[in-house]
Amino acid sequence: MSPQPQSAVGAPLSRVDGRLKVTGKATYAAEHDIEGVVHAVIVDSTIGRGRITGIDTRAALAQPGVLKVISHLNAPVLPYRGNPESFDPPGRQLRVFQDDKVLFRGQPVAVVVATTLEAAQHGAELVNIRYDAEKTSTDMTSAPTGEPVTYARGDADKAFASAPVKVDATYQQARAHHNAMELHATIARWEGDKLTLWDKTQWPKGTQKDIAAVFGIPNDSVHVISPFVGGAFGNAIRAWPHITISALAARETGRPVKLMLTRRQLYFGVGYRPSYEYRVRLGSDRRGRVSAMVQDLKAETSTYENFTERVLHTGQMLYSAPHVSQDYRTVALDVNTPIWMRGPGFATAGFAIESAMDELAHELGIDPIELRQRNEPEEDPAEQLPFSTRRLRECYTVGAREFGWHRRNPRPRSTRDGDWLIGTGMAAGTYDVLRNAAQARVRLDADGTALVEAATSDMGPGTYTSHTQVAADALGLTMRNVTFRLGDSTMPPTPPHGGSQTMTNVGSAVQDGCDKVRLQAIKLAVEDRRSPLYGADADGIVVRAGRLHMKRDPARGETYRQLLARNNRTHLEVLGTWTPGEARHSMYTYGAIFVEVAVDARLGLVRVRRMLGVFDAGRIISPKLADSQALGGMVGGIGQALLEHTVTDHRDGRIVNADLANYMVPVNADIPDLRGIFLDGGEDLHADPIGVKGLGEVVFIGVAPAIANAVFHATGRRVRELPITAEALL
Ligand code: MOS
Repeated sequence: MSPQPQSAVGAPLSRVDGRLKVTGKATYAAEHDIEGVVHAVIVDSTIGRGRITGIDTRAALAQPGVLKVISHLNAPVLPYRGNPESFDPPGRQLRVFQDDKVLFRGQPVAVVVATTLEAAQHGAELVNIRYDAEKTSTDMTSAPTGEPVTYARGDADKAFASAPVKVDATYQQARAHHNAMELHATIARWEGDKLTLWDKTQWPKGTQKDIAAVFGIPNDSVHVISPFVGGAFGNAIRAWPHITISALAARETGRPVKLMLTRRQLYFGVGYRPSYEYRVRLGSDRRGRVSAMVQDLKAETSTYENFTERVLHTGQMLYSAPHVSQDYRTVALDVNTPIWMRGPGFATAGFAIESAMDELAHELGIDPIELRQRNEPEEDPAEQLPFSTRRLRECYTVGAREFGWHRRNPRPRSTRDGDWLIGTGMAAGTYDVLRNAAQARVRLDADGTALVEAATSDMGPGTYTSHTQVAADALGLTMRNVTFRLGDSTMPPTPPHGGSQTMTNVGSAVQDGCDKVRLQAIKLAVEDRRSPLYGADADGIVVRAGRLHMKRDPARGETYRQLLARNNRTHLEVLGTWTPGEARHSMYTYGAIFVEVAVDARLGLVRVRRMLGVFDAGRIISPKLADSQALGGMVGGIGQALLEHTVTDHRDGRIVNADLANYMVPVNADIPDLRGIFLDGGEDLHADPIGVKGLGEVVFIGVAPAIANAVFHATGRRVRELPITAEALL
């Protein structure tokens, strides 16, 4: 077939849903106007571990408007039969209101349903719960670890012992919460045994199947609707307990129920990035060839589920070291279960590995970029596969040039601007390409417009827009004649909208469906005696702005409308599919981040002055959206590096900064000049048919270590704990 002209893909188009968003017409989960809706408010446990010994609901029930209080004392037994397709960690998921046990502070122990939100809130205050509390264990540093996950190549301990130059350092990552703007919310409505959920989710199909499993009903009895998501960063991939609670409350009251978590409840009602300790021992020769990387990791999880994430890849494949060992253990604490948060695993590993490499560069007196170049692997040393595309060297070169890297004086604490110590730092980032099956339905209508649907999500990156771009070019239609719809579990299945895998997988399914529809139309034309294209070579036909024509003879052709009308076809419809084959390549995205910081010599205050990221993310479908992702990722990275820290009081398991006043995220005043560059011409056709590698994660990874390395360069102080605080620099 003749390749389609690309006019939408690669163009810096604005969001197709931008107007809806800025005019407030985009409907988020809690905003759906459902007739007869009542409100639910969760009562959460005020102890960190123990048992409920009594619940007094009289005062709550006496409150006008309160319809019901549900707890383990009166909740029905829920089947919780398990969803084999979920990505839930091994263990036993939290079962709401099924027994008297309290596993962590903030665990839902009752729900109050009332005709108004205010009555439900007041009722929740009036529910009186008595507990038998036990001592809680929430401090990772003092609790025992579980069984390790390990990796080894060569003999890392021996190689480290005999290395002439060594770095041995432990890096800590604080627990962090996603804190998306939109709060988690669900509206649940039963009609007979059919349940509809208007929900904030990154995975409508996942929520559908999870909730069907909880209630023991067929999957198609649950309909999940989620057209807009106001940020998520990984936290809306799992069907958290409040979704079950809203559905349970709706069933028990016979009314549609709206349940929105408060900002405070996000800190234990949904997941978070777990805290980590990551010890790295690097052994190198004097020329900076790293022979040994010994890595020991420890991360928190809950007592009821063992959450692990893909934190080991970076330390295996970023550098060529022949001797590598890893030992990854979780610590089971009286906390709720963690989940993926932006750059999951890779951002944590990146901070440790890329800080350690900077320490080694300093130790050796070698430029940090040169050190990295000397340890670039030829192929993936862990998978022993060739890289599909790996342009990290180019990221370094382009980044160094655009940032002006080589102007720096490598000596720490060598540059001042008044009271400010100035430093620059850099770090690499990598994230793997997740390839999973996806489908998309494509329908071309007789009026020359198309509708494309897939049960994916748009938590902010611009799924609506980028998939419209792919469809428009593949169908040969203008953007305005294509509608892409998502966020509904009745649509064709897709993987979770997370892990930078939507464009890759859903985009490939959209491309497939649109190609097939276009080829159907071409076939119809060349076999139709009345078509100007009758008898033409199908391979020589392209479609542009809804008109099929010979590529070499644009005058010979006709429109989709003419073709379909003459053939009495109301539409052409195809289910596009993408099923990745076995990977014969190691597939990752790459980036290099460059940062300049200023540190107040007297106050320890760190200000990021400018940041540049250069990324190898494969083909860029939508440069404007990619640029937005780069900016957002770098802002997020500033949060990880300098601000975000969930603080737990280990005496009782209470989170002490469960709000946005005391849990700090970057604000405009924290954000300097940011710039993202995506390397041109980087399509990766080993990854998928549209050459995309994904970019939402890699733009975040590498920011925190680059900032930490810049802080070291500015001050001569190596801070090995995120976030970097003023106290650490005094
Ligand atoms: Mo992202 S952590 O995969 O939503």
